[in-house]
Amino acid sequence: MKDHLIEKAARVLRGNWKEKFTIPCEGLYPFQWNWDAGFIAIGWAHVDMKKAKTEIRSLLSGQWSNGFIPQIIFHKESDSYYPGPEVHGAHRSPFYPKDIKTSGITQPPVLGFVLEETLRISNNKEIDFVKEVYDRVFDYSQYFYQYRDPESEGLVYICHNWEAGTDNTPVWDEVWKEMDSPDYDLPRKDNTHIDAENRPTNREYQHYIHLLELFKQWNYDDRLIAEKSPFLIQDPLFNAMLIASNQSLIRLGKQLGKHEQVDLLEQWTNMGIESFNRKLYDRERHAYVYYDLRNQKSLNYVSSSSFAPLFARIPSAERAKKMIETHFNTGEFSGKEQDFYLCASFDPTHERFDPKRYWRGPVWINLNWIVYRGCKRYGYESLAARIKADTIELIRDNGFYEYFDPRKEVQRSLGKGYGGNNFSWTAALLIDLLNETNKE
Ligand code: GLC
Repeated sequence: MKDHLIEKAARVLRGNWKEKFTIPCEGLYPFQWNWDAGFIAIGWAHVDMKKAKTEIRSLLSGQWSNGFIPQIIFHKESDSYYPGPEVHGAHRSPFYPKDIKTSGITQPPVLGFVLEETLRISNNKEIDFVKEVYDRVFDYSQYFYQYRDPESEGLVYICHNWEAGTDNTPVWDEVWKEMDSPDYDLPRKDNTHIDAENRPTNREYQHYIHLLELFKQWNYDDRLIAEKSPFLIQDPLFNAMLIASNQSLIRLGKQLGKHEQVDLLEQWTNMGIESFNRKLYDRERHAYVYYDLRNQKSLNYVSSSSFAPLFARIPSAERAKKMIETHFNTGEFSGKEQDFYLCASFDPTHERFDPKRYWRGPVWINLNWIVYRGCKRYGYESLAARIKADTIELIRDNGFYEYFDPRKEVQRSLGKGYGGNNFSWTAALLIDLLNETNKE
C-alpha cells in the first residue's frame, strides 16, 4: 500500500514538472509559487534529488536584488491565470530582476528549513548544494528584518493576504471591513476551473486587487507600504516559518563556518521568539493569534496557523501542553458534534467557519504537515500519529486534492476533495510522511 501510494504521488509530481520547476496544479496555478516550491522540493528530494535542486534554483532565479523572493515566478506565459505580471506591475520596484517576471509580494519563507530537510533526506550528501545557495537564502531572511520589522521587535509583517498563504481566512474579514475598495470588474479565471462556492468571493477578490493597485502607486516601496498599507499584519504562520527557517540556517551556517550570518540570525530569532510569546499569544484562547499593526490591535481568531509556532519551537513546554489540550483531542478542532479530520483551517465553532470554502475551514495538507511535525517536536506522539493517519486517509480515499472537508461523514460521502486535483504539495508532503526518513 505504502509503495503504491508513493508511486501515485510521484506520478502527480512528474505530471506537474515543467522542465525546471513544478506547477502547483494544472490550469489553476500555471507558474512557480514560492512556498509550494519549498514543499515540493521536499517531495522531490525523496524521489529525484536533481529535480529538488533544480526546483530551488528556479525559485532563486526570481530573487530580487534586495534579497526578496516573490510569491510567483512567471517562468512562462499562460492565459489560464489571473492576475498575471502586468496586473502585479512589480517591475516598478528598483530591485526587480532583469530577465524574469515575478509578482511583487511574497509568501511564507519556508526555504531555510527546506534546505535542511533536503540535506537530511540526502544523508548529508548535498552539502555542496547547501553551500551554493546558502547566502541567497540568508539574504531572504535579512530582507525581512531590514524592511518589514518597523518596530525592530523580530516580528515581520505581511501586507497582502496572498502573502499569508491562507488567502481568504476569516481573520482578514476584519481588514476588509475597513477598506473601501472600488467595484472592479475582474476577469477571474479561478472560478472557471473550480466551483465558485469553494473559492473566495468576488468582493474579497476586489480587495486583493485593490491592494496591488496601491502597491503599484507606491512603486512597491516597502517604506511607503509600511506607512500606508491598510493591510499590515503580523501573522503567526508566516513568522513561525521565518523563525523555523532561521533556526535551520543557524545549524547549517555553523556547519559551513558562516559566523557573521549565524550571529545575525541568532539575534533576530531570539528577539522574534520573545516578541512572539509576548505579543501573539492569547492567554484566554490558549493559542497564537494575529496582530494588526496598522490598527495596533490583536485579531483574536484561532486557525490552523495558530499551531504553526510548535513547528518553530516557539512555545514553552507548558504553553504547548495547554494549547494542545484545549484545541485537540476533545477540543473544537476534533469536532464537537461530529467527528472531524484534523486539522480544519479555521475554528470549527466560529460562525465564520465554512468547511467547503478554501481557507475558511477545509483541511490543507501543508498545514497538517507543519502541525504534525510541531506535535512531534513537543513529544505529542499520539496526536501526531492521528494527524498523520488522517492525512494519509484523506488522500488515499479521495485523491491528491488541494483541500478537504474536515467533517468526516461529509468528506467520506463525497469521495473527492475540493479545489484542484493532482495538487503538487499534497503529493510531495505525502511522500515525505510515508518515507519518514526525517527522524528527529
Ligand atoms: C493558493 C493558496 C496558496 C498557494 C497557491 C498555489 O493561492 O492559498 O497558499 O501557494 O494557491 O498553490
